[in-house]
Amino acid sequence: MKPVKVGVIGLGTVGGGTVNVLKRNAQEIARRAGREIVVSRAAARNLDQPRICDTHGIDLTTDPFLIVNDPDIDVVVELMGGYALARELVLTAIENGKHVVTANKALIALHGNEIFAAASRKGVMVLFEAAVAGGIPIIKAIREGLSGNRIKWLAGIINGTGNFILTEMRDKGRDFADVLAEAQALGYAEADPTFDVEGIDAGHKLTILASIAFGIPLQFDKVFTEGITRITRLDVEYAEELGYRIKHLGIARNTEQGVELRVHPTLIPNRRLIANVNGVMNAVLVCGDAVGPTLYYGAGAGAEPTASAVVADLVDVVRAMTSDPENRVPHLAFHADAIVDLPILPAEEIRTAYYLRLTAEDKPGVLADVTRILAGHNISIEALIQKEPLKDQTSVSIIMLTQLTSEKEMNAAIAEIEALATVTGQVARIRLETLG
Ligand code: NDP
Ligand code: HSE
Repeated sequence: MKPVKVGVIGLGTVGGGTVNVLKRNAQEIARRAGREIVVSRAAARNLDQPRICDTHGIDLTTDPFLIVNDPDIDVVVELMGGYALARELVLTAIENGKHVVTANKALIALHGNEIFAAASRKGVMVLFEAAVAGGIPIIKAIREGLSGNRIKWLAGIINGTGNFILTEMRDKGRDFADVLAEAQALGYAEADPTFDVEGIDAGHKLTILASIAFGIPLQFDKVFTEGITRITRLDVEYAEELGYRIKHLGIARNTEQGVELRVHPTLIPNRRLIANVNGVMNAVLVCGDAVGPTLYYGAGAGAEPTASAVVADLVDVVRAMTSDPENRVPHLAFHADAIVDLPILPAEEIRTAYYLRLTAEDKPGVLADVTRILAGHNISIEALIQKEPLKDQTSVSIIMLTQLTSEKEMNAAIAEIEALATVTGQVARIRLETLG
């Protein structure tokens, strides 16, 4: 059989890794796909730049439109990143009847609804395993492996850069900026690394996971996001003392009131497996009504782990190329006409437990004022620690864990606590999940 011809747009970390894996494992891949998969063309901005892959035998260009308009190319692999140009290229490839594989979570989270509709009209596949959690086959697991379940919730460490930063800060006391620079050098970070540290990248991935888990449209604009830049060493240490780890989690929960979609630093009990996922590794917990909790773990970023997911998608495309488009696995797990627009809960209605840290004067009545305010908002305290004042200081740190409450009640309580004359500065608040 003729080899399948692939055009790769982008020869950076993931593009280079993909070319390498396709070449190195060519025989094994052909045995699985039933046909050879060959990269015939590739695009990059600067053709003189050194590459991590051998581009021998690949027709190189700086114009990605030559690839999406090339009648000889069967599958376009978009590994360039970004929104507008990537969208135009992918839609053009679809219009030209080509299948598409992409690692671009920003593209899928923002333009996926439009892209999948176009792909369905043309009867082509758009696969995006590498867009979430790098090398972990989490899309396939939810879309196919768990298709007998009603998914109740999922929670994941879905940004490798952020987890790498939190781990290095906690284990080695390293500086935030220094670890971020290393993550960039290792090819983990997004072109704009604020996407990693402010939770935007995790928000893109959560948008995709929630859509395939609950059968809802992709709606990134409804995700609540909070980054890791305000996490201090103090909070990391106090959390450890209380038996918790701080992880940057993406959480999606299907409740009777609506769907929670949120990304934020989270205290989780350190006995949970996911609390011990370190460095660039990712992990996603998915809870189905039939199977119960399931956990998926692996490298969340980097050239070859991500290439592993891209190549798996290529193999799936080749296997399903000749099948009837109506009978393929739906792009978003549920058939397009069965996608339901469930309400997404506004941030204020999210219910969770909290870790609070405040600095207060060390004198009688202060703690009583704080607990009275919390009680006034119906917030129960689960644990409370008051630290000894530091030498020559008259103020103390008070750390509390609360029981479940709404974000709205907590916002109001924090505003009142911060207004107390005996409390200095802002109250540090980190949400807490037991993931039980
Ligand atoms: P890189 O910046 O390493 O690579 C991007 C590539 O695209 C480069 O080769 C660049 O060319 C090329 N490119 C950019 N703009 C154009 C253009 N206008 N025309 C032609 N080529 C262009 O990015 P990554 O490989 O890290 O990421 C690629 C995608 O994969 C992104 O969507 C990212 O979110 C996603 N992803 C990344 C992961 C990772 O670990 N890095 C993991 C999972 C997903 P040149 O080299 O000449 O500059
Ligand atoms: N920048 C992303 C991360 C790449 O660090 O997780 C993988 O999607």
